[in-house]
Amino acid sequence: MRNSRIAGVGHYVPERVVTNKDLEKLMDTTDEWIRERTGIVERRYFVEGTDTTANMGARAAEKALEMANLQAEDLDMIVFATLSPDYVFPGSGVLLQRELGIKEIPALDVRNQCSGFIYALSVADQFIKTGMYNNVLVVGSEIHSSGLDFSTRGRGVSVIFGDGAGAVVLTPSQSSESGILSTHLHADGEFAEELAVLDPGSNKQERLTHEMIDEGTIFPHMNGNMVFKHAVTRFPEVIEEALHKNGYKPADIDMLIPHQANLRITSYIQQKMGLPVDKVMSNIHKYGNTTAASVPIALSEAMEEGRIKEGDLVCLAAFGSGFTWASALIRW
Ligand code: UT7
Repeated sequence: MRNSRIAGVGHYVPERVVTNKDLEKLMDTTDEWIRERTGIVERRYFVEGTDTTANMGARAAEKALEMANLQAEDLDMIVFATLSPDYVFPGSGVLLQRELGIKEIPALDVRNQCSGFIYALSVADQFIKTGMYNNVLVVGSEIHSSGLDFSTRGRGVSVIFGDGAGAVVLTPSQSSESGILSTHLHADGEFAEELAVLDPGSNKQERLTHEMIDEGTIFPHMNGNMVFKHAVTRFPEVIEEALHKNGYKPADIDMLIPHQANLRITSYIQQKMGLPVDKVMSNIHKYGNTTAASVPIALSEAMEEGRIKEGDLVCLAAFGSGFTWASALIRW
């Protein structure tokens, strides 16, 4: 079976910058608390009428296609990861397909939150490995800001999330020694409600009620401490799993791109894996946590900054709601 490789990467973030100081005006929080607990300084919020989950993904995809030297018509499939689709249904994949003007190729939405991009990458990788498709677009795009509780009640969650999109184009690798070496996906539904938006859900006779709005169950709920504890266990575990599978040690990693959940989590992983700071990508200070978009945005910026070169061993890793966690090891 052939490997797939990342032939192009791109990202798009909305123009609107929202600082911690801006949030201080909306809720009882401080710039100091947010920086110390999360490492976030600012994030981007979408501009209504300009940005949508699908069209931000399309902007990121155009850049990825350009880097891959491919046209949209060359794509065989779209895999779109998001927890914030434009509509309840259909998924954002078909909207992105329409935006790019490519008819009839399959468009699949993946709903695995912070791990969504790596899950989507793994799906695309399988289609290329089996020879079914050649060029697959993988997108992670999110709009959180229209669904957050900006009152003090929601401060533990709303200061964290931001909007943005990232994309990669996967194509077959010429060599079995390069490209995506392996992907590793995990889930544990026992903790499904520890980080979740519960309403409006299909399991209630009345999907949306005034009580849901008043009680705030339409907003994300997170047991931050519990998520934190699981994250610092699962991240190193799934990175080690990828290294072990391919016969590598942590010191062999040239660039680790973790999902940007919290700077403290990233620092913990970096120390636990014994990696120097410059081998671990971090841009959470600029964008906050963009869930499914965070890994491809970070990958795209690492490329722009010249921090990944041909032959490098690159590891992607994520943990989030579900709980789900995942990694991918790539010989660039
Ligand atoms: O991407 C998916 C995965 N997500 C994660 O990995 C997130 C994991 N969790 C976290 O990153 C952290 O748990 C948070 C950043 C969410 C919270 O940090 P923490 O250090 O765990 O704080 P905490 O929830 O224990 O809250 C400490 C205090 C509380 O006050 P009391 O009870 O000690 O008086 C909170 O009410 O900080 C308070 N607090 C805030 N204060 C100011 C919570 N949010 C805020 C806020 N501003 N925004």
